Amino acid sequence: MSRGLASKLMVSGTRHRVAAFTGLFTFSSLLLLSVLLAGQAVAAESEARLEIFSPDESIVVAFMLKQGAPFYEIKRSGVEIIRPSRMGFQFKNAAPLDGDFAVADSRASSFDETWVQPWGEVKEIRNRYNELRVELEETSAARRRMTVVFRVYDCGVGFRYELPRQENLKDVEIMDEKTEFALTGPHDAWWIPAYRDNRYEYLYTKSSLAEMDTVHTPLTMQTADGFFLSIHEAALTDYASMTVASKGDNVLKCDLVPWSDGVRVKASTPFVTPWRTLQIAENPGELITCYLILNLNEPCVLEDVSWLRPGKYAGIWWGMHIGKYTWGSGDRHGATTANVKKYIDFAAENGFLGVLVEGWNLGWDSEWWLGGSVFDFTTPYDDFGIEELSRYAAAKGVKIIGHHETSAAIENYESQVDAAFSFCRRYGIDVVKTGYVGTRVSETEWHHGQYMVRHCRKIVEKAAKNRIMLDVHEPVKDTGIRRTYPNMMTREGARGMEYDAWSVDGGNPPDHSTILPFTRMLSGPFDFTPGIFDLHFEELRPDNRVNTTLAKQLAYYLVIYSPLQMVADLPENYENQPAFKFIVDVPADWSETRVLNAQIGDYVTIARRERDGQDWYVGSITDEQPRQLEAHLDFLQAGKKYVAEIYADATDADWNSNPYAMNIHSALVDSDTVIRLALAPGGGQAVRIRPASEAEAGDVAPYSP
Ligand code: NOJ
Ligand code: CA
Repeated sequence: MSRGLASKLMVSGTRHRVAAFTGLFTFSSLLLLSVLLAGQAVAAESEARLEIFSPDESIVVAFMLKQGAPFYEIKRSGVEIIRPSRMGFQFKNAAPLDGDFAVADSRASSFDETWVQPWGEVKEIRNRYNELRVELEETSAARRRMTVVFRVYDCGVGFRYELPRQENLKDVEIMDEKTEFALTGPHDAWWIPAYRDNRYEYLYTKSSLAEMDTVHTPLTMQTADGFFLSIHEAALTDYASMTVASKGDNVLKCDLVPWSDGVRVKASTPFVTPWRTLQIAENPGELITCYLILNLNEPCVLEDVSWLRPGKYAGIWWGMHIGKYTWGSGDRHGATTANVKKYIDFAAENGFLGVLVEGWNLGWDSEWWLGGSVFDFTTPYDDFGIEELSRYAAAKGVKIIGHHETSAAIENYESQVDAAFSFCRRYGIDVVKTGYVGTRVSETEWHHGQYMVRHCRKIVEKAAKNRIMLDVHEPVKDTGIRRTYPNMMTREGARGMEYDAWSVDGGNPPDHSTILPFTRMLSGPFDFTPGIFDLHFEELRPDNRVNTTLAKQLAYYLVIYSPLQMVADLPENYENQPAFKFIVDVPADWSETRVLNAQIGDYVTIARRERDGQDWYVGSITDEQPRQLEAHLDFLQAGKKYVAEIYADATDADWNSNPYAMNIHSALVDSDTVIRLALAPGGGQAVRIRPASEAEAGDVAPYSP
C-alpha cells in the first residue's frame, strides 16, 4: 500500500522520547519508531503523541494517550479545528474500552491512486492520503486491543476503530461510542434534527452550535476564522448511523442510533467501525468537490459494471402527489396500461432512460402508510398489463422503472424480495425505486439504526446479483457505498420536490435548495425530482405551489446531482414549452464538476462537463433574494468558440409573483467570457455550452452581458 514518501510525517514519541522525537521525520524514520515501540514492553507507554500530516501538509492530526486514555486533535494551517477529543467504547457486558491503554505499535504510510467512477459527478477521483495506524493494548490483565486508523487528505480527515479478534472481546454490544468532536467555538451550523418521525425530511436550521441538540450528519459548520467544516461518516455497512449530540462547551459527541432494546451496535470481533469524517475547507464550494467520503469506501466489488446506466426518467408519480392520479385502484388510477404507454412514448420521444411506475401492485387500497404486510411485489393491478407494457417499453428502448413501496414492513419485503427481483428481471425491469414510508421500520426500529443498515445492505447485494439499479426513498443516509456497489444509484433522505406538492407548511422555501448542496448533498446523490413546469395546480391543491421560478427548475439539474434524474412533471405540462429543450439536452453523468459561486443558504453556481464529451452545463440558484453573480467560463478550451444556450430569469421574474418569466437566447462564448447570472428572487439560471460549428462561429452574435 505504501507508495514511498509523498509527504512529511511528524512524530513525537512517548513521554520519555519526546526530546528525541520532536521535529519532522521522514517516512522511514516513522517506521523505525514503530519498530522500536513494537519492541518495547507496553506497560510504560500510557502517555504518547503521534502526528500525521495531509499530503499538502495543511492538515495535521495528532493522536494522543493521556494517562492511557485515547484522544485526537486536528489543525489546519496551524489553526486548531478540533481540540483534544475523546475516543473509545462502552459495552453492555464488558468493561469500557476507553482508557488504560498503551501504544503497542504504530505505522504510517502514504497512498496515491486515481480511480474511475462507472458514473458520477466526476469521472476520475484521486485518492491521496497519509495514514497513521495506532495499535493500542490495555495495560490491565485483560489486555484487550483496539486499533485507531487516521487517513488525512488535503480536504479533510477520516478515522475509524478496528477491533481485532481476541479472546477477551468476542461478541460485543456497544452501548456508546465515545468519539467526540471538540470544536473551537460556537460555530454557525446548518442541521436537521435526529430522532424524529419524519426521518431526514426536515428543513435545515441555521443556528449556533450552542443551540443545537442531537442532529443528523452531514452537519455543516462555519467557524469564526473562516473555515467550513462538515462532520459525517463513510462506509456505514453493519453498524448504527452516527448522529451527533451537543454536550455543551462546543463539544459534539457521537450518538449512535440505538436498536429498540437500547443496544447501539451488535457485533463480533473482528470488526471495523465506519469512518468518522471531517471535511475542512476554506470556502464552501470546496466542501462539494472533496471526495473523501467516496475514497474511504471500499473499491467496487462488481466485476461487470457495463449494465449500469445513469439517465433521466419520467414517471407516473407527480400526478399522485398533486392529486390528479391515485396509487390505488379506481377512476383515477395512474398506473393503467394506457397511461403508462403515454409516458413511455413521452420518454422515447425525448431520449429519456425510463419511466417510473408507482401504484402498479396490490397493496395501495388500504391504509398502507400504517405498515403491516399489505404490499405484494409480484401481483399487478388488473388494469396494469405488465406483459404488454414490458414489450412496448422494450420496443421503444425505454426502461420501466419498478417501484417497491414497503411501508417500512421489512419482514414482508425480505420474504418477497427474491421473487420480486425475479419478477423484475422477467419483465426487463432493471431499475427499482424502493421506499420505506413510516415512522419506524418493522414498527419498532429507527430508519437509521443497525437493523435498517443491515437490511439496506442485503437489498443492495441482492439487487446487484440481479443486475438491478436502486433508487431508495426513506433510506439510511448515504455514506458513499455507491463506490463499492455502484448499482446503489441514488436516494432520497431529505425534503424533495414532493413537499411543494402537498406539505401543509407550504412546501420548501426558496432557500432550502441553496442549503442542500452544502449539507445533504455532501453525502451523495439525491433523487430530488426536479423539472416542474406547471408551478401552480390551483384546481388540485389550491394551498400548494412550487416555490421557484421556472429557470430555477432547470438549474436544479446541475445543482442537485443524481445519476437518475427525474423529469418530474406531467408530460402534458412540457408541451410547447421552449425551456423543455434544456431538460432534453442536459445529461445525468459527468466528467468534471466545478463550483463557481457558493454561499451556504444564499446561492450556488455549479458547472459540469458531460461524461466523455465537450459540452459544459452551468446551473445557478438563489434563495429568496435576487442576485447578480458571474460565471467565468475559463474552464472552456482556450481558443475555441462555443455556443451558450442561456435560460435566464427575465428581469421582472419573481418566484412568488412572476415565476414563468424567462429569457432564452444563444450567444457565442469562449474561455474569456464572463456570463452574467441575474437571478430573480427564488430564481436561477441554466446554460448549455457546446462547441460552435463553423457556421455558428461566424453567425451567432458574441455574448454581451
Ligand atoms: C414517499 C416517496 O418519497 C415518494 O416518492 C413516493 O411516491 C411515496 N413515498 C409513495 O411510495
Ligand atoms: Ca439565505
